[in-house]
Amino acid sequence: MNIDVVVLAAGQGSRMKSDLPKVLHPIAGKPMLAHVLDCARSVDANDLHVVVGHGSDKVKAAFEGANDIQWALQIEQKGTGHAVKMALDNLAKSGITLILYGDVPLIQSNTLQALNNLVSPTQMSLLTVNMDDPSGYGRIVRDENGKVTSIVEHKDANAAQLSIKEVNTGIMAVPTESLHKWLPQLSSDNAQGEYYLTDVIAMAVESGLNVETLQPEFAEETYGVNNRAQQAELERWYQARLVNELMTQGVTVLDPSRLDIRASGAGVNVGRDVVIDANVILEGEVMLGDGVQIEANSIIKNSSIAAGSVVKAFSHIEDANVAQGCDIGPYARLRPGAILENGAKVGNFCEVKKSVIGEGSKVNHLTYIGDASIGKNVNIGAGTITCNYDGVNKFKTQIEDGVFIGSNSSLVAPVVVGENATVGAGSTITKDVAANKLAVARGKQVSLNWQRPSKK
Ligand code: UD1
Ligand code: CA
Repeated sequence: MNIDVVVLAAGQGSRMKSDLPKVLHPIAGKPMLAHVLDCARSVDANDLHVVVGHGSDKVKAAFEGANDIQWALQIEQKGTGHAVKMALDNLAKSGITLILYGDVPLIQSNTLQALNNLVSPTQMSLLTVNMDDPSGYGRIVRDENGKVTSIVEHKDANAAQLSIKEVNTGIMAVPTESLHKWLPQLSSDNAQGEYYLTDVIAMAVESGLNVETLQPEFAEETYGVNNRAQQAELERWYQARLVNELMTQGVTVLDPSRLDIRASGAGVNVGRDVVIDANVILEGEVMLGDGVQIEANSIIKNSSIAAGSVVKAFSHIEDANVAQGCDIGPYARLRPGAILENGAKVGNFCEVKKSVIGEGSKVNHLTYIGDASIGKNVNIGAGTITCNYDGVNKFKTQIEDGVFIGSNSSLVAPVVVGENATVGAGSTITKDVAANKLAVARGKQVSLNWQRPSKK
């Protein structure tokens, strides 16, 4: 069965008060429209049609490279029915058309699947919810047998209809063949002068189709975002679900309201007995092995941290690969390409970029390691800098096994420090150091007789 998905995303979203089109605003670090499209893909949609209008260039640009999207332009917003009509020529002749909204981001796959399953040439399906205060929404009108007969918009409803609590979420699945028939018949003869998509319900009933309704597992799946407060509300709801999922997998989360998980593609993969303290942000693809501990206020993005490693408070880790039993932070920064081998340690106020820290090696305090490869059991003293950049080009520093670099040394790359060599504290190393030697490159200490000046 061919499944076309039409996502309405032409509205302005003026209440967001933003230069960014509404559907590009994120939930969990991912644009709302991307949530909707990913959900559509998860139910094996054959074609994705997105109806854009306001900010269409920006919206299209944000999805450049997504070749499965067909864009339809709605220049003037004349209603939801008119919007779907903009994509009509691109829809298949038969199969199912599923209608979704770019600003209703958290619809779930199981809900869409259930809607699709209810569609046949003689039946369409509609997602509804019951609301204590249904103001503003289209009401689901049923006959004495409980069969849906139409949807009446709030502004067109009579007193009896206004008291109906079951409302239209806007999400529906329709036999595509029928949609081709019905959409050209819509009229704008109503309170808002718009072409209402909801009028297809009465047309369906008139053509002898059954309108089956379905309720979502969570009402939040159908919540739209019109302002920043609604966006924040959905963000919190979604975060609670993501964090809950981690806890289900056996992670200790010390404060579930203070862990955020953002823009997960493949998501967060965890081993057993991981512990995450308060105010942690996990972004992108993150792997945390058995027994990993993440202390408070750390940010970990697209990185893998293997079993038994500890990330102490206030550390920032991005595109890094940390092996087992490592010790990071507090206040450490691992930048892209940082690789820590088993048992390595990177302490406070250290920055590591595009470098390997070998097994059991220690970079404990106030150090910059960039474009370097450090062997096993190396000790890098406090305040050491790899001078990797001459203002134009980057050069490599190679530090072999067992080296000891004294504190406050500068290693001017390209440079090699051979196995078991020692660099005296305060040295500026500009030439290779041979294995087992002690290199000292600093002013010699002298003792002079001298009287400090005193005040006249
Ligand atoms: C619509 C439904 C209503 C339902 C409500 C749920 C209609 C006529 N009414 O109400 O029954 O209870 O949604 O929220 O369908 N859009 C376009 N182009 C347009 C008009 C709208 O792309 O010309 C998009 C908007 O950007 C938005 C969505 O469609 O994402 C819904 O539009 P909105 O104006 O919020 O729908 P309502 O009329 O409030
Ligand atoms: Ca609305």
